[in-house]
Amino acid sequence: MIHKQTLIEATMAGAAIMKEYFDKQFTVTSKSSLNDLVTEVDHKSEAAIFEIIKKRFPNHYILSEESGPIVQESNYKWIIDPIDGTINYANGIPICCVSIGLERDGVMEMGAVYNPFLQEFFFAQRGFGATLNEKRIHVSDKDKLTQSCLVTGFPYTYLDAPNGPIQVFEKLVRKGIPVRRLGSAAIDLCWVACGRFDAFYEHKLQAWDSAAGFLIVEESGGKVTSLNGDTYNPYQPGIIASNGRIHEQLQHVVNGGEVE
Ligand code: IPD
Ligand code: CA
Ligand code: CA
Repeated sequence: MIHKQTLIEATMAGAAIMKEYFDKQFTVTSKSSLNDLVTEVDHKSEAAIFEIIKKRFPNHYILSEESGPIVQESNYKWIIDPIDGTINYANGIPICCVSIGLERDGVMEMGAVYNPFLQEFFFAQRGFGATLNEKRIHVSDKDKLTQSCLVTGFPYTYLDAPNGPIQVFEKLVRKGIPVRRLGSAAIDLCWVACGRFDAFYEHKLQAWDSAAGFLIVEESGGKVTSLNGDTYNPYQPGIIASNGRIHEQLQHVVNGGEVE
């Protein structure tokens, strides 16, 4: 219970910072590439989250986007994205969130994602289902890829590989399948979990982008795998998260097959 409470408080603390600075001036700098941005607010959100977690659990391992790993001998690891959707945030687009997953002995136990602008709080605990603002959520029941509504994301630097993001996107769009691009992987996952999207796929994510969201999809009755269909592991780059029913159809296209 104390873990859940801490997770909720930490998520809310980061989100309060996002809200506070949204319409104010803040510094924006580039990281790995010109458009891989970090704002002053990412750091402030991270600091607010750390303060809550470290006060209760000073010996837990923390992996957070802006600070990297804070290695500790512990069964618990907090995986933190202090703002997922930083480009949206920096441009005043209110599709962004705080995302925090809590791993125990290498297994994701809990996840929380909060978008303070839509006031949508997604939460899941392994084995106990997933909720949006405390109401149980479920994935959609569509069973045809050709009638589905999808979402994806693109990496900051062009990924030039066979069946890369552009090729897969083109195949789907050429068949008239709607593929949205919101700019926040954590929100993409949560919107699959609550049935707004039928599936999400992306080629290159980091553990903090998906740690909470993948558990939220699984606990909503969905399926999450790597791009080739293996059991999902947030420490490898690719992801397919779906309602389960269209998973293999999408996996086929992501791996070079035609839309059938
Ligand atoms: C990004 C978002 C985006 C995804 C990128 C991520 P950030 O996270 O989740 O949707 O396409 O791959 O890096 O940088 O806004 O925390
Ligand atoms: Ca992110
Ligand atoms: Ca981030």
